[in-house]
Amino acid sequence: MQQTVLDRVDQVAEDVVSLVLRGADGPLAPWAPGAHVDLALPNWLTRQYSLCGNPADHDSYRVAVRHDRLSRGGSEYIHLFLRTGHTLDVSVPRNNFPLLPAPEYLFLAGGIGITPIVPMLAAAVEAGAVVTLVYTGKSVATMPFADELRSRYGDRVRIFATGKQGRPDFSVLAAALNPHALVYCCGPASMLDAAEAVFPAGRLHVERFRPTVKEFAPAKPFEVDCVRSGQTVHVGPEESMLDALNHAGLRVPFGCREGVCGSCELLVTDGEVEHRDDLGAAPGRMYCCVSRALSSRLVVDL
Ligand code: FES
Repeated sequence: MQQTVLDRVDQVAEDVVSLVLRGADGPLAPWAPGAHVDLALPNWLTRQYSLCGNPADHDSYRVAVRHDRLSRGGSEYIHLFLRTGHTLDVSVPRNNFPLLPAPEYLFLAGGIGITPIVPMLAAAVEAGAVVTLVYTGKSVATMPFADELRSRYGDRVRIFATGKQGRPDFSVLAAALNPHALVYCCGPASMLDAAEAVFPAGRLHVERFRPTVKEFAPAKPFEVDCVRSGQTVHVGPEESMLDALNHAGLRVPFGCREGVCGSCELLVTDGEVEHRDDLGAAPGRMYCCVSRALSSRLVVDL
């Protein structure tokens, strides 16, 4: 964790504030567009937010937070209680949504999903790529950075206030997509699902902040052999592997506990994993907050 001080709070749309967090002990860990950080809030909650500032600024991070009325306590705390001068622990940035090189990009953003797209768009323009941003929200007043993006990128930005204009037709966008273009999409689940239905899987990159609904067979108990510590940990059917490991004193970092942030990634050297995350674990990796074992034993590098 890195200690930061909340330097600025700005209202950037209806119910959305941006926070500028300055490193308390000097420069902060570097990041690239698409990265997010875990904010450890003083009310003991940890929440993930995409970085939406300038990666060349090593002194501070910028995030934007919508006040979710159904908040589980994170955005509520930030909007009601967080003030400039407060200190906050912030994780090192993690990037599950990296911007891959391409000559052309189509960015699709819905509401607060614009946050990772802001630095991606800047990087793509800087690299000389052809860019289009399709940005949707209920009304322009609810859409953070809408005016700023329009004035910076002109008609490369297409704003859809869905309350008046309805949603853009993604199948029309998909039909017109340049064969070399990549598509990056961040927004509500319905928007990501709509994008996944029409854009080719290999060229569409999405970031989810809420897990998809999935069905699995009832959880079974299993053992975890932790090779570095020499411990074997039993995981019962009612607990997550993350909890079992942490209760056994093996500290595994975590953030979302929902398989969407990537904090709890482990290297698996033997056994069969039942992947339940939304990140798509790389071969030999697993996210132990949600994923479990299909075999009776897993061997992990811990
Ligand atoms: S804690 Fe976020 S993926 Fe496991």
